[in-house]
Formats: sequence, C-alpha cells, structure tokens
Amino acid sequence: MAEKVGTTIIQHLLSQQREKPEATGAFTQIINELTIAAKVISREVNQAGLVDVLGATGDVNVQGEQVQKLDVFSNQVVIDRMQHIGQLCCMGSEEVADLIDIPDKYPKGNYILVFDPLDGSSNIDVNVSIGTIFGIYKKVSNETDINFLLSDVLQPGIKQVAAGYIVYGSSTIMVYTTGNGVHGFTLIPSIGEFLLSHENIRIPEKGKTYSVNESNYAYWDEKTRALIDYFKTKDRDTKRPYTSRYVGSLVADFHRNLLKGGIFMYPADLKDPKKPNGKLRLMVEANPLAMIVKHAGGYASNGYGPILEIKPDELHQRVPLYIGSKQDVLLAEKFIGGKRT
Ligand code: AHG
Ligand code: MN
Ligand code: MN
Repeated sequence: MAEKVGTTIIQHLLSQQREKPEATGAFTQIINELTIAAKVISREVNQAGLVDVLGATGDVNVQGEQVQKLDVFSNQVVIDRMQHIGQLCCMGSEEVADLIDIPDKYPKGNYILVFDPLDGSSNIDVNVSIGTIFGIYKKVSNETDINFLLSDVLQPGIKQVAAGYIVYGSSTIMVYTTGNGVHGFTLIPSIGEFLLSHENIRIPEKGKTYSVNESNYAYWDEKTRALIDYFKTKDRDTKRPYTSRYVGSLVADFHRNLLKGGIFMYPADLKDPKKPNGKLRLMVEANPLAMIVKHAGGYASNGYGPILEIKPDELHQRVPLYIGSKQDVLLAEKFIGGKRT
C-alpha cells in the first residue's frame, strides 16, 4: 500500500487556487521554483557548517572552483532558478544594487520578486539559524524595459501578492502567504519535499518575549529606551518583565515570535548618521514579514504606522521595524509615535 506522504506546497497552492477562478499557473510556478532554490540553499548551508568545522577546502571546492560566500551563492541560486520561468519581469535583491533584468533569451512575465537571499549571514559560521526572505508583486505598468520598471517595483508592501521565508534551522521550514492564511512546510530530506507542518499559523495577540539588540541602547533616543525599559520592568498585571530572545537572524527571531508570540524590534538609532532608520531593509526584509505577520493576526510598524503602507523611495531603503504580536506592537507605537495615552 502506498505511504501517505502529506501535503506538498504545490498541492496546497493548487487547492487554494481552485477556489479562485482567476488564478493562473504563473503563481504556482513561481512558488515551485522558489522551493527548488530553497532546497539547493538548504543543502549548501548544511555543508557549509561541515566545511567550516573541518576547515578543509578553504576557498576551493572539489571541482577546483572558487567557493563562493554563501550569501553570494544563495543570491545566484535564486536568480538562476527564477529567471528562466517566464513569469517575472525583473527581480530586486539585497545583494544587488540595481534591479536584476531577465536575460533576453527567456520570456518575461508580469511578476516582480524581491528577496534577501541569505538573512543573518553573520551566523553561518557558527551554525545558528539563517534564512531567505521573499516578496512578490504584480507589475502595474505595461513597461518591459528594465530602465523603466523601478516604479513598478517601488510599491508599498500592501500590494504584495505573496510573501514568505525559509529558515535553515534545526529543520528547514518554508512559511508563505498569498493573503489566505499563513502556512508552514517542513523540508523532509529523505524525500526532498516540503510538507505541510504548520497550517494556518496564528500569532498570539500578546507575547512574553522581546527581541532586540540591546547593545544599541546608548544609540537610541529617549522614547526607544523607555519602550525597552518598559518590557524589562516588573509588573504582575501585565506579566512583566518579558523574557528576552535575540539570535541576530531576523528570519529566525521572527519565526520564533510568530509561533510563540512576542515582538521583534530593530529601532532607529544614532550609531551611523547615514543610516538613521536602523539596519533592516523595507523591501526585502520588513515588507515580506509584515505581510506574513498581518495574515497571521499580528502587526508590523515603523513606530508610527503600518510598514505595509510605506511608499518606498528606493529599493534598498532602511526602516525601523517593530513586528510581532499585535498588542505588543501597538504598545511600541504608543511609545515611539508619542501617542501614548
Ligand atoms: P543580512 O544577513 O541579510 O545582512 O541581515 C542581517 C540582519 C538581520 O538578519 C538581523 O536581525 C540583524 O541584521 C542583526 O543586526 P545586529 O547585528 O545589528 O543586531
Ligand atoms: Mn537580511
Ligand atoms: Mn542578506
């Protein structure tokens, strides 16, 4: 008798699309190709730990080729997998300054993929979870020339048609939404498939955890300090102090808080006058996770209002980020936005 395998991502997407007669296969193809990229990166991430431990090959792999840094490698894997499918008009990556064009030999489509190929890459060498983050938009103009596509790319996050991330952790998990619930799929290495493991994820309304790089305390303004002080202050009624968890990979910190509740913060700071908006990028990090958290019942803010409503001015712009359980993020807004009652 055949073994019951479980629900694959594509099976899941197809069943969702059957309820939408306007849906085309384009979307399924994009997600399918992304899962292949994720499997390749996952394999490489696992091997990287081994290579580092052994310290063996250094810069040269068994084929005598230069071993690329994993973030560069991951970037190339995503581009290679996504450019040929005929569904994208361009891509935007954290690792590439300009928009990425689709080579002439491939057909172009109407979707735009923005991505952080490897998030938390400073954690690679120490076997701490890292990930990939992506958002998908639909083109609004009729342009096909890369030189005129930037305004199609710079849409507010609310216009994303799908978003997701992959965490390469104790297992590899892919979480995505198309606006119809948030669903998680765990990679089963023995069959090489992502199978549904977390259906319809809902983030708790209020958490018990705050996640922030507190070494920036000296660089924060008074409001930000007051907010973090609040989470640390003892108060039985509001179940404080909160506990603190910070891995240093946004995707991993976010995933933990998505499942367990809590707030992740990367506030604005005064460390570098050229980066007054903190460290994280609006388009490839904040917006995709903001879409995910919204459809799981949570909220993402820049301290003043919804991340998803910010109209981007440039592909790599940074944004202060407060994301997670709704009540906790609304509270952060009260501190930062000065609307505290
Ligand atoms: P990336 O590896 O894509 O450049 O992103 C790193 C980011 C994010 O993953 C994490 O939350 C943050 O950097 C950590 O920054 P700090 O070391 O300043 O805390
Ligand atoms: Mn990142
Ligand atoms: Mn990155």
